[in-house]
This record gives sequence, C-alpha cells and structure tokens, in this order.
Amino acid sequence: MEMSSKTGVSKIAPAEGRLAVLTPGMGAVATTFFAGVEAIRKGVAKPIGSYTQMGQIRLGKRTENRHRAVGDLVPLAALEQLVFGGWDVFPENAYESARHARVLDQALLESLKEPLSRITPMPAVFDREFVRRLDGPNRKRGRNKRDLAEQLRQDIRDFKLEHSCARAVMVWCASTEVYTPPGEVHRSLKAFEQGLLENDPTISPSQIYTYAALRERVPYANGSPNVSVEMPCMQELSREMATPISGSDFKTGQTLLKTVIAPGLRNRQLGVAGWYSTNILGNRDGEVLDDPGSFKSKEVSKSGVLGDILSGDRYPDLYSDIHHVVRINYYPPRGDNKEGWDNIDIFGWLGYPMQIKVNFLCRDSILAAPIVLDLALFMDLAGRAGMRGIQEWLSFYFKAPLAQPGLRPEHDLSVQLLKLENTLRFFAREELINHLGLTYYGVDEAAEVA
Ligand SMILES: NC(=O)c1ccc[n+]([C@@H]2O[C@H](COP(=O)([O-])OP(=O)(O)OC[C@H]3O[C@@H](n4cnc5c(N)ncnc54)[C@H](O)[C@@H]3O)[C@@H](O)[C@H]2O)c1
Repeated sequence: MEMSSKTGVSKIAPAEGRLAVLTPGMGAVATTFFAGVEAIRKGVAKPIGSYTQMGQIRLGKRTENRHRAVGDLVPLAALEQLVFGGWDVFPENAYESARHARVLDQALLESLKEPLSRITPMPAVFDREFVRRLDGPNRKRGRNKRDLAEQLRQDIRDFKLEHSCARAVMVWCASTEVYTPPGEVHRSLKAFEQGLLENDPTISPSQIYTYAALRERVPYANGSPNVSVEMPCMQELSREMATPISGSDFKTGQTLLKTVIAPGLRNRQLGVAGWYSTNILGNRDGEVLDDPGSFKSKEVSKSGVLGDILSGDRYPDLYSDIHHVVRINYYPPRGDNKEGWDNIDIFGWLGYPMQIKVNFLCRDSILAAPIVLDLALFMDLAGRAGMRGIQEWLSFYFKAPLAQPGLRPEHDLSVQLLKLENTLRFFAREELINHLGLTYYGVDEAAEVA
C-alpha cells in the first residue's frame, strides 16, 4: 500500500459528482448488487451486510464512548451518486439478467424494472479458451488484444461522459476464468503491452479489463479468483498510474466462516487434522466452476486460507499434517442458494480427537452484493486519498487477499477488520487504537489509545 506522501494522506478529495460503478459481468452478483442499491434508494430495503452503510467505528478511548458511522468518518460517495454500468457476453439488460439469475423475488424485481432495464451491457472482451462453459453474442472484435483494451478504455470514457460521472471504479463480477499462473508476459508492464500487441494467448480477458481500468486511472477490485491484480505487470501499472488495486475473490460463505473458525482454533492452540469442505451450487457460476480449469482457480483461492492461518511451519505439532479438501459440485436444483458443509477434525489436550460440523445454507449473491458496494466505495475513497498499488486494508473482503510480495497475507477476519478500522482512523486523522488497555488499570501510558 503506497501513498502520495511518506507521512500519510495529506488531503482526501471530496466525493463530489457522480461515481460510475462498472462491472465486467452482469450476472447474479452484479444484478443483485444493482437491484439492492436501487431498492435501498427507494427506501424499501436496508443495506444489511454492508460495512460502509451500517458499520460503526469507535474513536478514542473506551471511556469516551465515541462511535461514528463509517460514512460520517470518511468522505464516501453517497448511494444517490452511484451510476451503474457493465459488460457481458449476454445482451440482456440488468432486469432480464436478474430474472434469469432468480436470486430476488419477482415482486421486488418488478418494482425495480425501470432503473434495472436501463442498465444494458456493453459488448464484452470474451475468450472461450478462458471460460469454456459459456458463450454469448455480445462481444467485441478487434485486431489484437491491444485493440480490445483500447475499446474498453473508450467504453469507460464514453460511459463517464454520457452519464456525467466525475469518477469511475471497476469491480470484476464476471465468471471465473481457467487458472493461468503468471508467465513471462506478465513479468513487466513492457512485456505485457508487447503481449497485447502480439495477441499473447496467455493474456486473459480479465487481465485486459484490469489493464484498461488502470490505464484510465479507474481503481480496480477483483471479485473472482482470476489471476490479474496478482501479476507484477498490473502492480507496476497501478503504481505508475497512481491508482489502487485490490483482490482477489469475494469472501462470502464458506471461506468467510473458515477465516472466523480457523483463527479461533489456532488462538487456543487446538490442533487440526483435517478440514473437508464441500458445496452444492446450481447457478451459472456453479456451471462455470464445473469446468476443471475454472475450478482450479477457485480451488487455489479457497485453499490458501488455511495454510496461511494455521501456519504448519510455526506450529508443527498442531498443523503440519492437515488434510484440506475443497469441492464444489454443480447441482442445478439449488440455483443461487448454495449449501456448504464443513467437517473439521480437531484434537485437543493429550491429542484427544473432536469434530466440528458446519452446514451453511447460504445465498451466494445475497452475501456478495454488499461486498461489491463496499469495495466500490472504498476503492473510490482510496483513489481520492491518493493511494496506489495494493490496498491491503481491504483484505477483509477477499478470499485470497493481495499483499506485497514477500509478505504473508492476513486472513483472520477480526485482524482484517482491525486493519480496515485503523486505516479509516488514519484517513480521518484520528488516533489509531492498539487495544493494549493498560491505561484503564492505572498504568500511565500517556500515548496509549486502547
Ligand atoms: N456469489 C458469491 O458468493 C461469490 C463469491 C466469490 C466470488 N464470486 C465470483 O463472482 C463472479 C460472479 O459470480 P456470479 O454468481 O454473478 O456469476 P454469473 O455466472 O451469474 O455471472 C457472471 C457473468 O459474467 C459474464 N461474463 C463471463 N465472462 C465475461 C467477460 N469476459 N466479460 C464480461 N462478462 C463476462 C457471464 O456471461 C455472466 O453473465 C464469479 O467469478 C464468482 O466466482 C462469487
């Protein structure tokens, strides 16, 4: 995480004017997000699950009893200022796509038909080599990948102009691509730009969107496990363009719980012998993940979590021999209402074994939509605060949080929240809270805020 000055944020530009929230992908997650914000604007729903809208943050010592709403502490764009746009290979508008996704009640959707119907997808940059289970007609043609990137850049400029937007942010809500580890072409910005010109087959569509966003100084958040913001070339570009990036893969259901339970077990020094996670899911995302190449991306982002939290290298007696299995099964009858099971084999004092079973009947897009909103608002804030490069303080939202090369990512949800809160206090020039707490017990720590 870098900033414009070594001493911190000098001045955050005000959130004036309209903010374009652009989503590559207008499927279940994106349309549930658009519809939710429209419903909240109409006053028929509350922004449940959104930290930017409902979160409270403590300031100063506990004895001061000072709490502020997040939006009162830092200058976030208001929901009324958001304008939605996106790209998709299917030409359906957001109302039609939301009907197809079957996440929201028909009656609610009918009441939002007018604003949702106005959101029509721009032609996508799409390549079946990277998403094998889908195909659609609404796609761009170009001389090479550089040309496709230029077309996306033009889309961003046109959208901002047409909708009189002062700024834009991009949050990837499109399908999970086939796993592509970084190669030579991703090693530097120069190599990547040459690769765009030469149509390098290892450059995926999501990387082309990331590139286009950053070149337009549009903050970019990656909601899928696609490998894009992780690439050295993208990190170089985000620094060069003084534009923030964050990722990857929205932390919603099973992994959210994993990053609550696993730190708890580790904090109490309880051992883990195995963690078996399986899911049934019947939406389009599940259909795409049924392809082994796309599943591989998801497996990588879902599996890293335990290794990092439980750190077998530091706790060899407790975690060096964990059997961690993650499965996703495409099962159409469930639609977006995913069911996740976790069986956790743990052991305690004298090695006695115990088990934990978790059965989470969740709604995938209902959990993801508020994350899209928070990321859009926080990435816009980061841009106005002069932040560039990796935004580690937004790890809270991701299954595979980005961290500076050489740094272990932070997965523990409560530590991620502390990091997020302290970053907001830092933005607001409030004292950071270290939770030491000795000051309440007569130990005179003048500088301590606990
Ligand atoms: N819902 C969750 O809980 C959750 C959690 C973490 C991550 N995600 C990720 O979010 C993404 C979206 O999930 P969803 O449930 O909305 O899926 P979805 O299949 O309903 O929607 C994805 C949309 O992206 C479109 N698309 C695919 N490639 C595209 C491209 N190159 N350009 C533009 N559009 C393209 C598809 O046509 C589809 O309409 C997936 O990658 C998913 O893995 C979802």
